[in-house]
Amino acid sequence: MRTLIIYQSKTGNTEKYAKDIAKAVNADVIPFKKFKEKMIKDYDTIVFGGRVIGNRIQKIDEFLRHYEAMEGKNVILFSVGMSIVTKETRLNMISSNLLDMYHVRYYQLRGSFDYAKLGGLEKFMFANSLRLISRDPNATADQKMLLEIKDHPIEFYDNAGVEKIITVLNKLSVPEA
Ligand SMILES: Cc1cc2nc3c(=O)[nH]c(=O)nc-3n(C[C@H](O)[C@H](O)[C@H](O)COP(=O)(O)O)c2cc1C
Repeated sequence: MRTLIIYQSKTGNTEKYAKDIAKAVNADVIPFKKFKEKMIKDYDTIVFGGRVIGNRIQKIDEFLRHYEAMEGKNVILFSVGMSIVTKETRLNMISSNLLDMYHVRYYQLRGSFDYAKLGGLEKFMFANSLRLISRDPNATADQKMLLEIKDHPIEFYDNAGVEKIITVLNKLSVPEA
């Protein structure tokens, strides 16, 4: 089975997950900016992994614009964010990114976050989200956790999540024409 893994990453977490999975299943791996629709025909399975900013998977809409061209292919999505992975955060990601409109498998992986390493614009965006959360009486426990993160970087690698994706990829067969 031929598999292409496409990733959108900035600080390297999503890129590392994409490359680790690619190595384990012998897939081709490219950043989203190198992806062209004409590549799809050469693969049976297409995997897209993107970093999460404000609950949105970066470049997911741009990727899913090619959904029709992926008819008959296995399509797997994964997101990488600092949020804890729970049933609630997963459902939240599915609805915020309209993933239930598509016939895809979706996995949520936890990555690392270091405020000190952000660029100016992202620092500003992040500080702005924190301001809103701190004033919101209905903020969830997950959102409140973000308030702690600014001064305490988190480093996380979801081995179990990666293994799950690898197992699924190894079990997938070549879709029938
Ligand atoms: C401005 C900003 C907003 C973020 N929003 C979220 C979020 O809503 N949910 C989440 O899980 N992670 C969020 N993150 C954390 C990143 O998704 C996380 O650091 C991820 O590992 C980055 O992926 P990359 O290393 O591949 O670029 C945010 C990070 C920044 C800078």
